[in-house]
Amino acid sequence: MPHSHPIGIFDSGIGGLSVAAKVRELLPADDILYVADSRHAPYGDKSDDFILERMNTVTDFLLGQGAKAVVVACNTATTSAIAQLRSTWSVPIIGVEPGVKPAVLATRSGVVGVLATPRTLQTHSFSALAARFSSTVSIAVQPCPDLVGQIEALRFDDDSTLELLHRYIAPLLEKGADTIVLGCTHYNYLAGRIARVAGPDVQIVSTESAVAREVVRRLKCEGLLADADSIGKEAFHTSGEVAVFGRQIECLWGAGKAVYPL
Ligand code: SIN
Repeated sequence: MPHSHPIGIFDSGIGGLSVAAKVRELLPADDILYVADSRHAPYGDKSDDFILERMNTVTDFLLGQGAKAVVVACNTATTSAIAQLRSTWSVPIIGVEPGVKPAVLATRSGVVGVLATPRTLQTHSFSALAARFSSTVSIAVQPCPDLVGQIEALRFDDDSTLELLHRYIAPLLEKGADTIVLGCTHYNYLAGRIARVAGPDVQIVSTESAVAREVVRRLKCEGLLADADSIGKEAFHTSGEVAVFGRQIECLWGAGKAVYPL
């Protein structure tokens, strides 16, 4: 696989752009091919079978475009079916899972809160992750079924979003959480607002930087990093409305980027 080929990154929608942005920071020479499976967002209320079928379809597209690695920049997809995806395709596949481990290391109260989609919290892989730490800390989970839709609609500052944040965060604070894990890449775009609602004594943990570092590590190991003197480009694809995605990209990535249908 030529090292000049793009890194494929996908999510149900725009949350994975927060991961792509960190990958761009660390790897300025690599091309990035991003897919938002917007027509099927959110994944968080879908079945494992449906999510796996979408993951295979998007991965097939990315590999058809020559992707040298695939980043599943979606906690719901990673926790639901990354093992099956890895067993189907032979390129490096890197996922994101809720940052429970760093949160367990950071907590002083011994209570870690996790905000995630209902599907992520129901998966075996999340249960196994939480069980690894349940003898040392208490893990309080909060499903946030309505948050991804607000973020997809770019309603970062709306009262309706703030109300949801209060509704989802209050139960975690009542249980004594002093550390809150953003267990969905979409929530990275609300990190500042979540921190303000949670208050100054609560740490917010997200994993986009760690995932980007893992992408660098894997590509280096496989000899797949682009030549350092290249200038990386990005291409953005969506299974949803191109005009809507164009506005999302302009807001979160910057003006002047072309977007394409899947
Ligand atoms: C979703 O599609 O429901 C959220 C994506 C994620 O869990 O990161």
